[in-house]
Amino acid sequence: MTAALSFIHRFEPATVPGLAPLLLLHGTGGDENDLLPLGRLVAPGAALLSPRGKVSEGGAPRFFRRLAEGVFDEEDVRRRADELAEFIREARAAYDLAAPIAVGFSNGANIAAALMYRQPDALAGAVLLRAMVPLPEAPARDLASRPVLILSGSMDPIVPEENAARLATVLGQAGADVAHRVLPTGHGLSQADVNLSKQWLDKASAPAARG
Ligand code: MLT
Repeated sequence: MTAALSFIHRFEPATVPGLAPLLLLHGTGGDENDLLPLGRLVAPGAALLSPRGKVSEGGAPRFFRRLAEGVFDEEDVRRRADELAEFIREARAAYDLAAPIAVGFSNGANIAAALMYRQPDALAGAVLLRAMVPLPEAPARDLASRPVLILSGSMDPIVPEENAARLATVLGQAGADVAHRVLPTGHGLSQADVNLSKQWLDKASAPAARG
């Protein structure tokens, strides 16, 4: 039952009513299939919407262009965040969904953060796994207590601890309700990421608060 929309994607309908849908955003080199198992673990029964990033880096799908590792093409970040927000609007209409909570990993976490900066109405909240500051400017709008969980790794070779802490500060100053945990791990996901995300989503997603 996947509709033809502006992003290649997978959609799994909810089996439990009232839970916020999840928008699953994969890391570099992933695709629309990658995070479905994680989504099922952290929000059993929630609708899952999982697009594939449109940018190809030597064949590896991403959600925006980068100039080097950790150095983003900022104009592309802005354009791609707006494009993804439009996809979310399309998908909400096609599948009759409430505003989703993003669950993004690495590059997917960074585009989710960029959505918060530019298109906060697109999301009801976000779980940002190994995220960085996506843009130099402050978020454009008040984030109106949107819940955001940031999980970082103290040994992450890609995301400096200071950068993740800055993201938490910037989102908090813009009005988001931010929880930031630094785990004793690297860039990859651990069981602690799954457990903490599930606990946080149990509170944040039921009942689906923002329509
Ligand atoms: C990015 O480019 O978004 C970050 O460096 C994370 C990554 O995809 O490696």
